[in-house]
This record gives sequence, structure tokens and C-alpha cells, in this order.
Amino acid sequence: MAETLTISENLVAESRLPQVDFNNIPFGRVYTDHMFVADYVNGEWTDLRIVEYGNMSLSPANMALHYGQSIFEGMKAFKDEEGNVLMFRPEDNAKRLNRSAVRMCMPELPVDIFMSGLTRLLEIDRGWVPNLPGTALYIRPYMFAMDEYVGLKPSQNYRFMIFACPVGAYYSEPVSVKVEEEFTRAAAGGTGEAKAAGNYASSLYPAKLGQQQGYDQLIWTDGIEHKYIEEAGTMNLMFVIDNELYSPALSGTILPGITRASVLQVAEEWGVKVHVGRLAVETVINAHREGKLQEVFGVGTAVTVSSVSKIGYRGEDFELDMDNRALSQKIATYFEEIRYGRKADSHGWVIKL
Ligand code: COI
Repeated sequence: MAETLTISENLVAESRLPQVDFNNIPFGRVYTDHMFVADYVNGEWTDLRIVEYGNMSLSPANMALHYGQSIFEGMKAFKDEEGNVLMFRPEDNAKRLNRSAVRMCMPELPVDIFMSGLTRLLEIDRGWVPNLPGTALYIRPYMFAMDEYVGLKPSQNYRFMIFACPVGAYYSEPVSVKVEEEFTRAAAGGTGEAKAAGNYASSLYPAKLGQQQGYDQLIWTDGIEHKYIEEAGTMNLMFVIDNELYSPALSGTILPGITRASVLQVAEEWGVKVHVGRLAVETVINAHREGKLQEVFGVGTAVTVSSVSKIGYRGEDFELDMDNRALSQKIATYFEEIRYGRKADSHGWVIKL
């Protein structure tokens, strides 16, 4: 666990918690009372503080707004039956944030600052971690440029923050996805494997076109031939073909999902044959035509495990059998049980606050 750093606290006089209906929480719209903030000034992280969640003042020339030096993480905390707050692989998020920081020419954040800010925020706002089935506290750590400057260069000053939202399901239903062959999410040598704000912004227009055609999400394909499957933007993708699990390899253009890595590891431990490599769209479509494509699902922090009900490819729709989701449901149940502390976590992934 992280060593204790000095964090100043300016806490609310009255919590907003009594106003929250935990039976009815939309994803990402309700925020806890507090947030953690740290500033990077003169080459060091300073002024670590917990303050009331609320708006902040930024210069109109703030460089993050213009040039996009902005990265983030997504993680969740859960409550077990005894009321303990449990986190899932939090240090992996701290490390991935730093990999994104390097790519976006931003300063790394010492993991102990990340962990101390996170744990203190959760201690203070622990009442906000919901305990109803399917709910969690979604946690959003992020860092952005703070310089006021119009020229293009790396900012010298940055802010790191963490806020949190009690949430229910991200997708309430299985999703339909369209294989995207015109637009590209990420190019080789680009920023696709960083959790950078701009990657998400650039996905919105193609996703909107896909939605106009009746699909919830896109399956991104490689930027060169549009032949190989990458990810779905909000989640990494998994395919069960002939009882074996296939997932695209991290090629530099795919977000290295912590849920993705955990799912692949567990499936392998269960004896499932796991293929991580290049996965052609045609392989998946042919498997469907031959009746061998049993399941398609996405995995990620926000979505957890989300079934794909239909794949749209070149004007044709390929329906998945929603009554046959044996592996994805086994995976969903396994992760639910360890995250809520109902099953022993043999990997050391679940960290008690
Ligand atoms: C997450 O899964 O935590 C993400 O950051 C995805 C985001 C689109 C909600």
C-alpha cells in the first residue's frame, strides 16, 4: 500500500449523499462530495489536496483545451457485504497513466501520489461506494496541461485530479457494432495505446455515423488495410470461435485494457485456448457463416463484460445468439465475485482500502 504523503483537506460541511437515489443512478452524472487535486509546478508535484467537488477556473488559453495534452484513467471501487471498499488493480492504472504521460510529453506522476490521493479520497467519500448488485464507484483519475500559452510546445505546468461517481451499468443491453472500414481510430506510431482524450474525440464522428445506421458502437480496424480488428473504443474485444478465445494483440494502436489482460489471463488459467494476435474481420465473419462464432463481447472498466448482439459488415448484419453466452457469462460472474469480495482473489488484484 502507498506510503502516506501530506494531503491537505478542505471538506464539505454537509454531504450531498442523502439526495442520491442509489436505485436509479445514470452512468457518470452523479459525483461524490470531494475530489483530489495535485499541481505540477517548477518540475515537481505539489499542493496535494482534497477539496469539494466543483468547477474550477482555467485560462481561456489553457493549452490542454487547444493542443490536447490531456490523459485519463478509468477504474472502479466496490463494496463487499461487510462494507469494505475494494479496488481492482489500482496500481496498474497508475502505471498506465504514466505510459500515457510519456507518449503525450507530460510529466509522470509518482505512483505513491496516485495511490495516496486515491485512497484518501475513497476513505473520505466511502459512503458513496454503492453496494447494490451491478453498481460500483467509477473513479476518474486524469491529468492535463495548465499553461496559458498559444504557441505549440509541451506545457510546463500540469494538474492531476481524481473524482468519482457512483454508477450502474454502462450499457444496459447487449450492443450492436459496425465494422468501420472508412475511418481510423489510431495509426501505427500514433497515440492509440495512450489513454489520451483526443483518441476519444476523434472516435465520435464515425461513431455518430454508425449510430445513424442503427449501430451502438464501432469495431475499429487497422489504419492501413482496414482488414484487422482492433478495439471498440469503449472496450477491448473478445471472440469465441469453436470454443477458443480470440482477441487482437496490442499492436501499439489498441488501448492496453487492464480488464482485457485480466480476462485473457483467467481464461487461459481455466484451460481455454487463447489466441492473441492479428484477427482479420474475414476470419470472424467466416466463422459466423460456418456457425462457429459463438460469442462476441467487449471488456473494459466502464462496461465490465458487455455482449455484442450483432455485427454489421459491408451492409450485412451478423446476429449473435444471445442464449449462448457461456464463456462471457462465466467471465462476468468470476470478475463480479472477486470484485465484490464474494470469492477469494487468488491473483492479488483486489486491494482493500
Ligand atoms: C473506461 O472503461 O473506464 C473508459 O475509460 C472508457 C470510457 C469511454 C468510459
